Amino acid sequence: MTLPIRIAPSILAADFSRLGQEVRDVVEAGADWVHLDVMDGHFVPNISFGPDVIKSLRPYTKAFFDCHLMISPADPYLEAFAKAGCDGITVHAEAGPHLHRSLQTIRTLGKKVGVTLNPATPLSVLENVLDDVDLILIMSVNPGFGGQKFIPAMVEKIRAAKALIGARPIELEVDGGITAETIGAATAAGANVFVAGSAVYKGDGIESYRANIAGLKGAAEQGRK
Ligand code: DX5
Ligand code: ZN
Repeated sequence: MTLPIRIAPSILAADFSRLGQEVRDVVEAGADWVHLDVMDGHFVPNISFGPDVIKSLRPYTKAFFDCHLMISPADPYLEAFAKAGCDGITVHAEAGPHLHRSLQTIRTLGKKVGVTLNPATPLSVLENVLDDVDLILIMSVNPGFGGQKFIPAMVEKIRAAKALIGARPIELEVDGGITAETIGAATAAGANVFVAGSAVYKGDGIESYRANIAGLKGAAEQGRK
């Protein structure tokens, strides 16, 4: 199953003093999804933003809000993120003892269901939930910060995830250290959704973002050939 290549800029690298405009600009510049990195200072060693910030960003675009929850526990907050306007909610398999319950809750809330794995977590934890997810996110850095280096061993993990997915229409997303240099290998291995923070939100406003996104898309298409 070949799904479209999608670029999902992470607003973690945007100017937080003018987030609404930064979201609007990146979509205008060609972003397919908007990636929202939620951090709690407990599951990951950093704190970002919560559902109220997402709610305040919702009026700025109709684009898909791809919410990546780096929080533990996640279950008590899923409804708040759904109500805030997230279109997809992704939880970490490491964030709680009842992954299947978390996924079912997101499904019940009517949102696209995502699951993600830290670099050290084996794919085998997904074997029993494959029919319950719409998206698998492979972390290609240890979550918590933008601007880190892509971990090369994750290319093989993406390839194995693609094989595990088989014919299912599951989006295969990669997050961390995605640049025009690393995106091709990730595409060739089977990923179709690419989170990019620092590689998109660099330069000087919307025209820079447009060039950055076009560069990433071009390199991704190249990787598919
Ligand atoms: C890391 C976040 C990423 C991060 C990506 O914890 O989940 O989404 O913002 O940033 P870059 O693209 O700069 O590696
Ligand atoms: Zn993320």
